[in-house]
Amino acid sequence: MKGMKRRNAVWTGLLVGVLAGGLGGCGGRETTEPVPEYVFTYAENQAEDYPTTLGAYRFAELVKERTGGRIEILVKANGELGDEQAVVEQLQYGGIDFVRASLSSLSEFVPEVNVLQMPYLYKNSEHMWKVLDGEIGEEFMEIFEGSGLTGLSWYDAGARNFYCTKKPIRKLEDVAKMRIRVQESEMMGAMVEALGGTAVPMTYDKVYSALETGEIDGAENNWPSYESVRHYEVAPFYTVDEHTRVPEMQLISQHTWEKLSPEDQAVIRECARESAIFQRKLWIQRSEASQKRVRKAGCTVVELSEEEKQRFRQAMVPVYKTYCADYMDVIERIEAAGEE
Ligand code: GCU
Repeated sequence: MKGMKRRNAVWTGLLVGVLAGGLGGCGGRETTEPVPEYVFTYAENQAEDYPTTLGAYRFAELVKERTGGRIEILVKANGELGDEQAVVEQLQYGGIDFVRASLSSLSEFVPEVNVLQMPYLYKNSEHMWKVLDGEIGEEFMEIFEGSGLTGLSWYDAGARNFYCTKKPIRKLEDVAKMRIRVQESEMMGAMVEALGGTAVPMTYDKVYSALETGEIDGAENNWPSYESVRHYEVAPFYTVDEHTRVPEMQLISQHTWEKLSPEDQAVIRECARESAIFQRKLWIQRSEASQKRVRKAGCTVVELSEEEKQRFRQAMVPVYKTYCADYMDVIERIEAAGEE
């Protein structure tokens, strides 16, 4: 498939050359646009104006610039290439070259990464970035080796909160019997069940209509997603409990990675990291704008009290036992980073 795409690109390039030559003879301008050696696809499930998509465009631009146009990356937003897990599988086969994905989706392929998205793990955003930008972040970037994926950079996705269609969650008992959509991640399902709710795993694109039809009573996500895909229209009760911070990653297919020279690999990595710095700035701006927008639209925003937060946190003990028993040393290192 990809070979064909590349041949097509070369063929189109030849055609452009011939046409430009022809036009040149008629007094037209010669094209200086080089023919790319590689044309890669990049999957993104958010909208065109979303911070992660804008980060992807910046990444593609930087790579094109620094390889003199030899590497072209075509960003496909809006989930055009499929839902996250299907896309990640495609990366493993080499059918898609890049993805920006939530760690929750990735945890089904590389379960060790659950450690980085455990409920109530980070005190705040600074704590999480200290971990991801430091030694632990580097170690987890390398953990993808052998999975068919190569990690490139960390993107921000803020903190996730619960939201419901009929009434807000103010205390632990309010979660009881609620059907709450979770990402297709076993650990996230266990988290909702430990709070007393019923977890309903579902892909991102299906959530709006499931909220609308009453198939589920609620879901959970960060401010920009809640606003961008308009879940606030059908689930207007948002409870700020910040139960998880689920970082996101840019990854490249191992197949694609191995085709590249060490020099090109270095450029790709450097551009991914630069685009991440850009994305994190956009993230902060969009989070504020999204919050304002949904409040203005009349949503009820509830801050979970410290006392209740403590009860939610306490309920997570069995989840840590199931998903992190072998990684308690890493959990301790993460916690220690928050104390420094
Ligand atoms: C966030 C994340 C997406 C993910 C979604 C979800 O919006 O950015 O990549 O798919 O959460 O809840 O599924």
